[in-house]
Amino acid sequence: MINGIPTLEDLGDVAGKRVLVRTDFNVPLSHEGAATVIADDFRIRAALPTIQWLIEHGAHVVCASHLGRPKGEPDPAYSMDPVRVRLAELAPGVELMENLRFNAGETKNDAAFVDELIAGVDLYVNDAFGASHRAHASIVGPPRTLPSAMGRLLEKEVDVLLGLRDRPKRPFVAVLGGAKISDKLGVVEALLDIVDSLVIGGAMCFTFFAAQGKRIGDSLFEPDQVETCARILDASGTKIHLPEDLVGVDADGNFATWGTNLPDGAKGFDIGPGSAAAFSDVIMDARMVFWNGPMGMFEDDRFAAGTRTVAQAMADTKAFTVVGGGDSAAALAQFRLDDDVDHVSTGGGASLELLELGDLPGLAALRGASNAN
Ligand code: 3PG
Repeated sequence: MINGIPTLEDLGDVAGKRVLVRTDFNVPLSHEGAATVIADDFRIRAALPTIQWLIEHGAHVVCASHLGRPKGEPDPAYSMDPVRVRLAELAPGVELMENLRFNAGETKNDAAFVDELIAGVDLYVNDAFGASHRAHASIVGPPRTLPSAMGRLLEKEVDVLLGLRDRPKRPFVAVLGGAKISDKLGVVEALLDIVDSLVIGGAMCFTFFAAQGKRIGDSLFEPDQVETCARILDASGTKIHLPEDLVGVDADGNFATWGTNLPDGAKGFDIGPGSAAAFSDVIMDARMVFWNGPMGMFEDDRFAAGTRTVAQAMADTKAFTVVGGGDSAAALAQFRLDDDVDHVSTGGGASLELLELGDLPGLAALRGASNAN
């Protein structure tokens, strides 16, 4: 039991038992001709320690996951077939149910769908860290009835991410990027209470620049968040580090570099080299770093340098480094630096919500399971 949450050992003897394992196999897919293939199997491999433990202890494992966002009915574009093929290679003999979101009851946390899921099942394991911020049927339903546990992946993610909140090593630096500040307001405010420095890149910096009265050209920003950004900047003192230069395209579509005032018609797509070097210095001097969100449009080579420099600093620093899922994890993988950080989280939204609130619906459900009390 860890913080009131049962672990695999708390399930008792699993031999001969049918165990439903909620995994997050929501993997990126790509298309090769007519075939759909998995672009990155990280989330499948991440579930293997739990699956293998259960198999070694004699359990019959049935995995269940969502994939993408189908609309509550079967949709061949989101079939679990490609995942099933990969899972069979990595863990032969393990069953995999069809996409949970093919049933509208999943996202509605419908009791009848929970009953369907647990029919004939003896035990439940949640190893779907990336989906544990969703109060969906397969996450919060089964622990109401079945002896339940968190799997090894969930256990590790919670330990690492709550460790950032509860046991920070200083200086503790958070690096946030991505397009929208509105998606990250809660976590920005929570992080400002914990970190020594908050580094902000990505398109979200333009809303902060607008709050400072700077000229942002035609760059992406959120007008309705300008006041909030001004309030955050006022309250945060010197903790927030914004870019000092930017790159993008000018009104004629030509690649250009500027300071932090952009000419009319210009669009910023990445932090500039001065900012990248400054952000890298902050990361190198830290003892703990959390990074979520790219510094620019790294999918386009012209605008990848800022994200690449931050990724390289994450790899080089002696600090304990954690990368919160999603696009920043994809960037690390693109630069082949994913083995050089201490922890790459399998959850984007889940890691931010856990940092912000210190708890997730999936964890609360496990704490309420019959075998937890
Ligand atoms: C994710 O990819 O972050 C998780 O699998 C959750 O997916 P969702 O945002 O569609 O609920």
